[in-house]
Amino acid sequence: MRMIIVFGSINMDMNIKVRHFPEEGETILSNSYTSTPGGKGANQALAAARIGAKTALVGKVGDDGPGLRILNYLKRHEVMTSGVAKTPEWPTGMAVVMKTKSGKNRIVVASGANAIVGADQAPADIFHDKNILLTQMEVPLEQNAIVMKAAHDKGAQVVLNLAPALNVPKELLSLVDFLIVNQIEARQLAEKLKINIDDKIDGGAEKLATALAKSGKLTCIITLGEAGVVAVSPDGKGYKVEAMKLGEKVVDTTGAGDCFCGTFTACLHEKKPLADCLRMATIASGLSCQKEGTTEAYPYLADIEEILEEFPLAKAV
Ligand code: RIB
Repeated sequence: MRMIIVFGSINMDMNIKVRHFPEEGETILSNSYTSTPGGKGANQALAAARIGAKTALVGKVGDDGPGLRILNYLKRHEVMTSGVAKTPEWPTGMAVVMKTKSGKNRIVVASGANAIVGADQAPADIFHDKNILLTQMEVPLEQNAIVMKAAHDKGAQVVLNLAPALNVPKELLSLVDFLIVNQIEARQLAEKLKINIDDKIDGGAEKLATALAKSGKLTCIITLGEAGVVAVSPDGKGYKVEAMKLGEKVVDTTGAGDCFCGTFTACLHEKKPLADCLRMATIASGLSCQKEGTTEAYPYLADIEEILEEFPLAKAV
């Protein structure tokens, strides 16, 4: 069966509205919170499924109420969950997500069951050249590496979203076809690989993406927030896509990066050209910022297609 396999984290998000982020030693009061399914793995799987890609999630939850609630939620939203195991040893992962009125957030993740996700939960015969593996960094690095190697060896494409930014060995990058990072993650990776580029000067992000693409022999995609996204393939060909002009329309940016990754991978799975994958993922993440919540704000294919024709084309860089 052709599908996307997401190997990644599953959290219950405690979303707390704050007037401002607390300083060190400061306690602030908030009169509003919600708990919603989240975690980068679960979010990305849902974003891919939402636009119609067959998507399976491999991960771990606790044998508890939040775990059960998230599993039911994912199933209702067409994500296959037979690869999600329950453990009695750890609680379901939890994220505290503080959000301001202007849509900014700060997140702390308590890993819980995500800390013991095992590569053996993904059966080796699940990988072949028609499937894509999508993974992030909220599960143990060594388990990620085993799954990425299994997928790579069987000819599946590997998409890695290096979030949160952790040190990855260069050998791991050799298993990756598409690397998705934000500017901070890109800088940290470049530093580790001893690539020295000032990305704050004009055209710096393109140069950084080019250097990372060349070094890792992969397509490097750097998301630039309000400045859009830049992607460069190992042959040096690249594109820039402008972000949606949102201004005051931004309500909540939580999970917008996950929406980008899931949508991008789903488009790749549909064999769309890179420029189209970037445009559709940019539209999806822009739409997701205009509604409250994470996965509840992710768009359907029809929502993206409604905007696609009018949306600026990708520019070659
Ligand atoms: O990217 C947003 C996600 O990061 C949240 O859903 C939270 O669970 C953390 O994993």
